[in-house]
Amino acid sequence: MSELSLAGKKAVVTGGARGIGRGIVEALARAGADVMIGDFLADEAARTAETVSRETGRVVKSARTDVTQLEDAVALRDAAIAQLGGIDILVNNAGWDNLTPFLQSKPEEWQRVIGVNYQGVIHTCYAVLPHMAERKHGAIVNISSDSARVGSMGEAVYSGAKAAVVAFSKTLAREHARDNVRVNVVCPGLVDTPLLAEIQSRDFGRKVIGAVTGAIPLKRLGKPEDIAPMVAFLASEAASYITGQVISISGGLTMAG
Ligand SMILES: NC(=O)c1ccc[n+]([C@@H]2O[C@H](COP(=O)([O-])OP(=O)(O)OC[C@H]3O[C@@H](n4cnc5c(N)ncnc54)[C@H](O)[C@@H]3O)[C@@H](O)[C@H]2O)c1
Repeated sequence: MSELSLAGKKAVVTGGARGIGRGIVEALARAGADVMIGDFLADEAARTAETVSRETGRVVKSARTDVTQLEDAVALRDAAIAQLGGIDILVNNAGWDNLTPFLQSKPEEWQRVIGVNYQGVIHTCYAVLPHMAERKHGAIVNISSDSARVGSMGEAVYSGAKAAVVAFSKTLAREHARDNVRVNVVCPGLVDTPLLAEIQSRDFGRKVIGAVTGAIPLKRLGKPEDIAPMVAFLASEAASYITGQVISISGGLTMAG
């Protein structure tokens, strides 16, 4: 098995401005990769890029990107190729949800949830895969959720979108194995991030998250640093025989087969 080094690799991370995505940007850069962040929080993404670059000595850039728009995904790919020199790693991490019982949720929310969590992944993969296939080399890591595997109270449409990411990823793993492009999925459980804080700022979200937190076998919420090392591993040559897999990181909350 090869060492876990990303020296010389070029990575794109969506939603890398904050939360889990920021943890992933830090882990990839520490392992030696140059990184392009695609996030619609442009100022926060630029600050994250500058800080991580200063701390790691790697090239870390950002581009304002709304992954729900295919043309933004194409522009992100072009910016990464122009500024980093290519793309070896794509991490689809951008995501969003608002906990609501299904019958109280609104069609506009379904569109946003599906747009960010599923169509966003389709867009970046559609934009970046031809580049990887042509170079016969690439690793894609898609951030889904344990809700995709076991469902989650108040997250019906989100869970469906995240499950779609799993099936989509497995299919791409099959279609692009011949191009030496690997596609894997990481499913976080509950992770302490700005998104989770937003969800807990509302009554229903606070109740559900409180109940679920009490059922975590390892007795704590996850942190971005709990998720990022697995992403770095799956992106590395150490994982060169792993594709089409789904890995939960949830403190044992789910032990899906
Ligand atoms: N926090 C959790 O408990 C948890 C659990 C399971 C899965 N996840 C998933 O992990 C990923 C990261 O979540 P987080 O908790 O760090 O969230 P977060 O809101 O803290 O960070 C998400 C980042 O994605 C960006 N983003 C959102 N929509 C975007 C868009 N349309 N285009 C570009 N960027 C966009 C945001 O600006 C933000 O920087 C998401 O895919 C989320 O669904 C989170």
